[in-house]
Amino acid sequence: MNKWKIIALGALFLWVATIALGAFLVTREVTTLDADGRAVINFNEGEVDFTLEEMRGLLETVHDIVLALDDDDMAGVVAAVEGKSVADAMANTPKSILAKIPLEFRTLGMSMHGGFEEIGAAAAGEGANTAQIVTLLGDQIGRCVACHASYKLP
Ligand code: HEC
Repeated sequence: MNKWKIIALGALFLWVATIALGAFLVTREVTTLDADGRAVINFNEGEVDFTLEEMRGLLETVHDIVLALDDDDMAGVVAAVEGKSVADAMANTPKSILAKIPLEFRTLGMSMHGGFEEIGAAAAGEGANTAQIVTLLGDQIGRCVACHASYKLP
């Protein structure tokens, strides 16, 4: 084999290897489908713990909003959603989690954080009232329900 043949074969090998790596990265499964029809996100133990702790915090936020609404306390609603914005979520979520989650899960998560921003802005607004916040809270809990219907953790 002459020198040029070796170089050509080497180049061909690198080309195929690059394409194979690219295809692997693009199609790599970040989820597996469970028997109950929901996608399991392949988080490690630390990522599961972080996510479930976040989730329990979200339930607390919903509880705090309902308690504030029961008192017609709009300032209480504003206080309840503090720290739950999209920007807060982006800043607080470990990069490994952001890298692993499927695009749809990320979109659902962001729209849920956006929902808390919307509730906070409405409660802080002129003439805010309980009925209006209850409507937004119904939409918001719908976002929780939608994600839970499609995804689970290992
Ligand atoms: C982007 C997806 C997503 C959204 C949006 C979401 N969750 Fe979750 N949540 C999950 C997943 C996944 C689990 C794990 C469920 C499983 O493994 O069966 C979970 C679990 C939970 C748990 C159980 C926590 C534990 O310690 O076991 C609670 C409580 C919870 N979520 C509350 C909420 C509330 C309240 C909202 C809305 C304000 C919400 N979640 C929105 C994905 C989401």
